[in-house]
Amino acid sequence: MASTHQGQCIFALFLILVVLASQVMSRNLHDASLTQTHEEWIAKYGKVYKDAAEKERRFNIFNGNVKFIESFNAAGNRPYKLSINEFADQTNEEFKASRNGYRSPRLLRITKEASFRYENVTAVPASMDWIKKGSCWAFSTVAATEGITQLTTGKLISLSEQELVDCDNNGEDQGCEGGLMENGFEFIIQNGGITTEANYPYQGADGTCNTKEEASHAAKINGYEKVPANSENALLKAVANQPISVSIEASGSAFQFYSSGVFTGECGTMLDHGVTAVGYGTTSDGTKYWLVKNSWGTSWGEEGYIRMQRDIKAKEGLCGIAMDSSYPTA
Ligand SMILES: *[C@@H]1O[C@H](CO)[C@@H](O)[C@H](O)[C@H]1NC(C)=O
Repeated sequence: MASTHQGQCIFALFLILVVLASQVMSRNLHDASLTQTHEEWIAKYGKVYKDAAEKERRFNIFNGNVKFIESFNAAGNRPYKLSINEFADQTNEEFKASRNGYRSPRLLRITKEASFRYENVTAVPASMDWIKKGSCWAFSTVAATEGITQLTTGKLISLSEQELVDCDNNGEDQGCEGGLMENGFEFIIQNGGITTEANYPYQGADGTCNTKEEASHAAKINGYEKVPANSENALLKAVANQPISVSIEASGSAFQFYSSGVFTGECGTMLDHGVTAVGYGTTSDGTKYWLVKNSWGTSWGEEGYIRMQRDIKAKEGLCGIAMDSSYPTA
């Protein structure tokens, strides 16, 4: 009897060991495939780490992000998907600090009260898409200026963000650390115009103002106006007429890894990023969205764009999209 019992015990112990060993093995396999995924990602985005310790640290962050993205997509309870993009080795805190370059309007001087030329617009098309027709804050200023230039001249000209970053020194719009689109419009007005992207290409960092290019004007604007705040209906009238600079909170992990679909959050209304509303529409299942142009490259989102839920209950709009919008006028 005793020996049968002993045999059962040994067998049970053996089973436990087999289970443990297979767990260790599958963890090792999983780690090995994550290492490979990380290596492939490094090659794809041309990342360079200064030493092995830094690589290890980035690998751990990468792992955490991959798990977050996989479990988010597996839950399948949102109308949008996330993906491993260029920002996958950054913590959300680092991402926030490095990407947005936008200062809350509260900290800035009050710009003049402007009229809203679209207030009496009664009919707007069901959908609008200025892409077919046509960072930081500088990208939003420039995209909206390109939009109005194309509408008034019929010419699609790529304009210079770097000129704004380097030459707009009004103290509040210093380079990529902060700025506001309205002050960018003001710079273009005061300067008498803005040059082309080709003449003054984007460098991704603050530089000295190239005064020769600053004096060359490929496009100009005469003024800018604000969209009445906290009204998605007012924003709709505006976007029906031209691309609009809007401010949003874009610092959450879901935003960091947004890949496709209609973004429905998570986000708050602590505005920290300048983007451009370039259209709107409704999906086949009836979800209304804003079409928003970001400045984080084409590997992010839908080829650099995001569709954000439109007409939500909160008057501020999703991520505060209806809180602080403006547009240049010809
Ligand atoms: C809108 O209509 C009102 C009433 O007719 C008018 O006073 C106002 O000037 C109009 N606004 C614009 C921007 O045309």
